[in-house]
Amino acid sequence: MAPEALRALIRPDCVHRRVYADPAIFALEMARIFARAWIYVGHESQVAQPGDFITASVAQQPVVMLRHDDGGIRVLHNRCGHRGALVVTQRSGRAALLRCPYHGWTFRTDGALDAIPAAEGYDPGFDRAAHGMAALPRVANYRGFVFASLAEHGPGLADFLGEGRRALDNMVERAPGGALEVAGGAFRAIQRNNWKIYLENLHDGLHAQVVHQASIAASRAVAASEGPSFALDVVAANGAPLREMAALQVNCYPYGHSDMRGFRKTRAADPAFAEYEAALASRLGREGAESVLADSLHNALVYPSFSVHPAFQQLRVIIPERVDRTIIEVWCLRMKGAPPLMHRRNVAFANAVHSPSSIVKVDDLEAYERVQAGLAGGPDWVSLARGLGRADGPATALDERFMRNQYAAWLRYMEAA
Ligand code: FES
Ligand SMILES: [Fe+2]
Repeated sequence: MAPEALRALIRPDCVHRRVYADPAIFALEMARIFARAWIYVGHESQVAQPGDFITASVAQQPVVMLRHDDGGIRVLHNRCGHRGALVVTQRSGRAALLRCPYHGWTFRTDGALDAIPAAEGYDPGFDRAAHGMAALPRVANYRGFVFASLAEHGPGLADFLGEGRRALDNMVERAPGGALEVAGGAFRAIQRNNWKIYLENLHDGLHAQVVHQASIAASRAVAASEGPSFALDVVAANGAPLREMAALQVNCYPYGHSDMRGFRKTRAADPAFAEYEAALASRLGREGAESVLADSLHNALVYPSFSVHPAFQQLRVIIPERVDRTIIEVWCLRMKGAPPLMHRRNVAFANAVHSPSSIVKVDDLEAYERVQAGLAGGPDWVSLARGLGRADGPATALDERFMRNQYAAWLRYMEAA
């Protein structure tokens, strides 16, 4: 598509429905956004020992992240150097060598070709180095979070993350041991909506009272009859009045990133929390611990593939599959050195809002699916105008400025051939 045609899809106050529904635009997004940006692959704790691996995808290309013998992390195309078969199909595991199941070629944990069965069939000049599992052009690790890019050139990871680093820093600094680790597997939801519809909901304070009406009422009713609980509180928080949503500050950053601040409940009164605060203070001092815990950051988006929720150590990965189908993975990290109850609290949060049985999640899924269905035809324009006239000062969770910020980044990526 010509740059003019792409520009014609984005207006200051609205976007054309084709950006959510046209498979040709989706294919271009994979090539120009997901194949250029830094895409989150995994956490270093998932490959703690040499030979540990996980599989993931970058711009729809299967990849494998491994810990090599030299201690470094590699991200390779999950593709055999012979005829291209997928080499690894498990989500995670440990192996001294990777063996292709088709003709048995083996590869080392840095992707180098190890052995070819019946190798005498090749000429002496056969270039073994060119037939390994190829590494992705760029891989970088920010405080344990490993990203890769299919683009040879572009901003470094730290520059790309920009203000998003503060969210990752806060998440790591909350751990008394100064590090996080992935605990258990992920919730994996297949959503019948375009990937951008999910991102546009991340700081949308306007939908909560409406979409979550039934789950708010149910959680309040259970709390009234059985007493309050952390999980019920989490669900009922969606019922905060609009004036409280308007008090949440949403900040927009380059590359389409954003975050939301002003969240009140990052601390808790239970005894586990007091023990946790003491453990954190023993590493950071009382003031240091205080400043880490006082950060009111609710969630942060690193466009286009990654979102974190530092106070509850949640991490969301956005994996587009088709124009109308997206996989969202939710991981819950464990803070090293924190009392076990803290992790149970974070898992309870994940269960309340992200699990397949969450009464909150189904509300959102239906809303996303309805947007996708509605955009299959009909009038062309989708409104993102809320708060447009208030360009000065911070936006709030009731403004659609962060969505407009995403489309500014979208257009910059998409226009560049
Ligand atoms: S395709 Fe992998 S060994 Fe032939
Ligand atoms: Fe929601």
